[in-house]
Amino acid sequence: MRKVVRKPAEFRQACDAARAKGNQVGLVPPMGALHDGHLSLIDEAKRLADFIVVTVFVNPLQFAPGEDLDRSPRTLEDDLDGCRVRGVHLVFVPEPDAMYPAGFQTQVSIAELTQPLEGRFRPEHFDGVTTVVTKLFNLTGSCAACFGRKDYQQWKILERLARDLDMPVKVVGCPIVREPDGLALSSRNRYLSPTERERALGIVSGLRAAHDAWKDGLRDPTELQAIAERPIEAAFDRVDYVAAADPDTLEAPTSGEKSLLIAVAAHLGATRLIDNVVLGRDPRP
Ligand code: PAF
Repeated sequence: MRKVVRKPAEFRQACDAARAKGNQVGLVPPMGALHDGHLSLIDEAKRLADFIVVTVFVNPLQFAPGEDLDRSPRTLEDDLDGCRVRGVHLVFVPEPDAMYPAGFQTQVSIAELTQPLEGRFRPEHFDGVTTVVTKLFNLTGSCAACFGRKDYQQWKILERLARDLDMPVKVVGCPIVREPDGLALSSRNRYLSPTERERALGIVSGLRAAHDAWKDGLRDPTELQAIAERPIEAAFDRVDYVAAADPDTLEAPTSGEKSLLIAVAAHLGATRLIDNVVLGRDPRP
């Protein structure tokens, strides 16, 4: 890796300079604690662009009081090593007050896509996400930006953001990376005790059961949702939702769709996991 910058103006200048030399910029904006899922986003950015930038910023705006902002893992040295090994050109690591200086008072908000699923349980979360991502897109300028589809709703919202606000950004949703037993990679998995790690596979069982039923020809969204729900309810301490939705609009599905999103959020102790599968599009989890 060539450079680490901390000031927004330096970051913007470096991205502008790369483009002035004829490079396409590829952006990967995680909050840190990079795992193989994030590294796969860097690999995808490298396929789409030639100057790769990673931003590492734990965004306070997207955490409600009581959520895990302070628990959010900070592993900057390891993250920088990962970027170096992957051939990232530039890493932007701003301090919170560089992103939100005194007097900051703007919020970017998306009306409809933010309401279902996560929006019902984390009502202010997506305003924090769209506000910070608007800033990151504005600083980066024209680029391809890679996001993981584990945060499926976030990906759809950010696509909408770029389209609605005419941002020169191609938002790319990349496949979920899973452990060999199917658990989706997440920086939160490190908080699971060995027993909880075992119980977390309830999500995998639920998504696989729905995937198998779809493959066998079942198309009724309510039944598919119930099939996914059973093993998750049995394994988890608390289930926020197991929902079936239209994968493009996130609205309630109608029967006879060509594809169907099954999305899950559930708690094991203090750890909240999310996952999803799009039946008719995604491979078996
Ligand atoms: O998915 C994440 O890591 C964050 O929500 C994002 C998009 C970087 C905004 O802080």
